[in-house]
Amino acid sequence: MPSPNEPMPAGDPRGLAGRHIVLGLSGGVACFKAAELAREMGRAGATVQVVMTEAATQFITPVTMQALTGRPVYTSQWDPRQPNNMPHIDLSRGADALVVAPASADFIAQLAQGRADELLALLCLARPQTAGRLCPLLVAPAMNREMWAHPATQRNVAQIVADGARVLGPAAGDQACGDIGDGRMLEAAEICLDLIAFFQPKVLAGRSMLVTAGPTFEAIDPVRGITNHSSGKMGFAVARAAAEAGARVTLVAGPVHLPTPRGVHRIDVQSAEQMLAAVLPQAPGHDVFVATAAVADWRPVRSAGQKIKKDGSGQVPTLELTENPDILATVARLPTGQRPWCVGFAAESEDVVKHARAKLEKKGVPLIVGNLGPATFGRDDNTLVLVDAAGERTLPTGDKLVLARELVAEIARRLPGSAN
Ligand code: CTP
Repeated sequence: MPSPNEPMPAGDPRGLAGRHIVLGLSGGVACFKAAELAREMGRAGATVQVVMTEAATQFITPVTMQALTGRPVYTSQWDPRQPNNMPHIDLSRGADALVVAPASADFIAQLAQGRADELLALLCLARPQTAGRLCPLLVAPAMNREMWAHPATQRNVAQIVADGARVLGPAAGDQACGDIGDGRMLEAAEICLDLIAFFQPKVLAGRSMLVTAGPTFEAIDPVRGITNHSSGKMGFAVARAAAEAGARVTLVAGPVHLPTPRGVHRIDVQSAEQMLAAVLPQAPGHDVFVATAAVADWRPVRSAGQKIKKDGSGQVPTLELTENPDILATVARLPTGQRPWCVGFAAESEDVVKHARAKLEKKGVPLIVGNLGPATFGRDDNTLVLVDAAGERTLPTGDKLVLARELVAEIARRLPGSAN
């Protein structure tokens, strides 16, 4: 297992391969979500060691958590299973992170005061906090909205953040007590994604990125249109990777069936003209623009207001087409001060490098990422070749998320004023 805090080897699309996570449960109805969280973290490649407070065992049994993680659960600092009888020291020593989910109001109060009257609180207090051996603490609050809003809780949350804890959520919504409001624990999948993001290097901290993704749909009439096979997966992966790297991300998406990456602001559009209209006001407010969208080159001059019907004569309608605006080239021509650092994609069917280099010139951008369109549309993997003034670099075939993270690192390195 790599030692704690080391960046994991690239090439792990699951996100937690080789990580060892201590999952702490304090008392709350949301304990049922911790069962799913343990599984999610396991699926993402982590080994999971569960520690529960006495109160948590009232909501879910250690047996369940043991069965899900394949490891004995610890509940007491007097547990004789540790040869040195120091579970509070041993359990966090090899851990990459300590995740408390759910974290009750009482447990957060204990953390804020540095109390240690139960194993889990003791573990949090005793976890290594020095550089090189750091065991980060992530806390997912779960409580009734009145408890969450109470000044004492807010004070305690501010205190644990000041002491170095990362607070995940809470979300707003239905509560077990029947109330609706802030205080719900994040869903297991959201906590797991936040944990995966937590481990990614923050190479775009303080930066912002605007991404276009997916195909466009150029309406012929209300039921038909011109589009292409782009699934949007590469662009969504770039948006996710940039958000994981610490950037503020805006994603302008054509019609695709993909969930919005966590923390990303998404604007849905249909046509190329709508995409341009969404991108242009956003562009000056972003440091980087990555155009992954497979924008339709042409659109019908007229889109019929009603469905075009066959008239029985066998005559087919004639489609008159006009060229769509080039979104990337338009952004790349914005005046200095309003122009983000532009990255284009080139989806080719052959001679990727040659065409990519031609597009570098034609679009006037510092970086073009070439890929074979037909070989990648809709798939989870891709091969990218980065083409810029200095030369070419191939990112070998891999999962789109892994490639997106590498691309984000390459962009971060090239950004003016970059310290990476
Ligand atoms: N692009 C764009 N707006 C368009 C066409 C393309 O923003 N109307 C962007 C794409 O998002 C991509 C890059 O330009 O980043 C290259 O797109 P591609 O379709 O490969 O190239 P085209 O310019 O359309 O050239 P061709 O179809 O002749 O290969």
